[in-house]
Amino acid sequence: MQLPGTDASADHPLGRQLLDVDTLGAGGIDLILAEAARIRAGAGTARGAALSGRIVVNLFYEVSTRTRVSFEIAARKLGAEVVNVSATGSSVEKGESLIDTVRTLEALGADALVVRHPHAGAPYLISRYFGGSVVNAGDGAHAHPTQALLDLLTMKERWGDLRGLRVAIVGDILHSRVARSTTIGLLLCGAEVRLCGPRALLPPAGWLDALPTGHRGGRVSQTVSLASALRDAHVIIALRMQVERQRGGLISGLSEFVGLYGLTRQRLLELAPDALLMAPGPVNEGVELAPDLVAAPNSLVTDQVRNGVRIRMAVLKLLLGKEL
Ligand code: NCD
Repeated sequence: MQLPGTDASADHPLGRQLLDVDTLGAGGIDLILAEAARIRAGAGTARGAALSGRIVVNLFYEVSTRTRVSFEIAARKLGAEVVNVSATGSSVEKGESLIDTVRTLEALGADALVVRHPHAGAPYLISRYFGGSVVNAGDGAHAHPTQALLDLLTMKERWGDLRGLRVAIVGDILHSRVARSTTIGLLLCGAEVRLCGPRALLPPAGWLDALPTGHRGGRVSQTVSLASALRDAHVIIALRMQVERQRGGLISGLSEFVGLYGLTRQRLLELAPDALLMAPGPVNEGVELAPDLVAAPNSLVTDQVRNGVRIRMAVLKLLLGKEL
């Protein structure tokens, strides 16, 4: 599906926006992962050139460390100028509307906006008013496409083909934009996704029905049982409790969550001794993951962070770059 304002062409095969993975389809995902792998291998290094003269604005209305910094590093590595705008310290504090802010940034010469916003849909709205490229860096509980792509790249590096890969995603599925985008990406690549968490933090039935199952054999299920989600899993993705998005009373307390779903060395040994661990971060150590697990030998968390830069370079280059 083409989004309003996109213009897929030989130079810009993805069009001009990246708002979520569903609009990319399997072909778009393959293209980005292949470009990121080329960047990793150092082949066709467009370092310092592909985005020279372009201005990338990081427009972040929510806190972020790794996503904002990795977009910034990615854009700089491609030769772009980077400007960071956050809600605090900008005219947003004086009551400026999102659309006015976007129009102002366009008039100032921005070629791309990388947007993080607490409200689902904000990057979609922005893409209707901004003439350049818009990249969704996380909108509310809705989507986080570059996180999904870096997750896919990290798994592909390990397993090659993702068809039939068994992936358990554990924690606060309901409020997690990572769970949604990564699930869609995995399904489009043919993986088996098991969503697992307390009943109140699993998504409503219609959510699952709307997912793109059947591509390359991809399928999805959900369960409250950690043991059944983890059985024979190749990879486990541990999600943070999205307390900033939870309304009170959904779970009786963090200690109950930790008791039932918190991942510890012992629990992994019992339920999924061969699985590798991933987490989008930030990790609340002692909640979703025991403190010793992020740096454990079966953890891919650092690979994910490194792949974040490669994926964001690939995305920016494909959306904005001139062919050299
Ligand atoms: C995630 C996010 O912001 O959605 N973090 C990230 O981008 N690396 C997950 C989270 O905040 O828990």
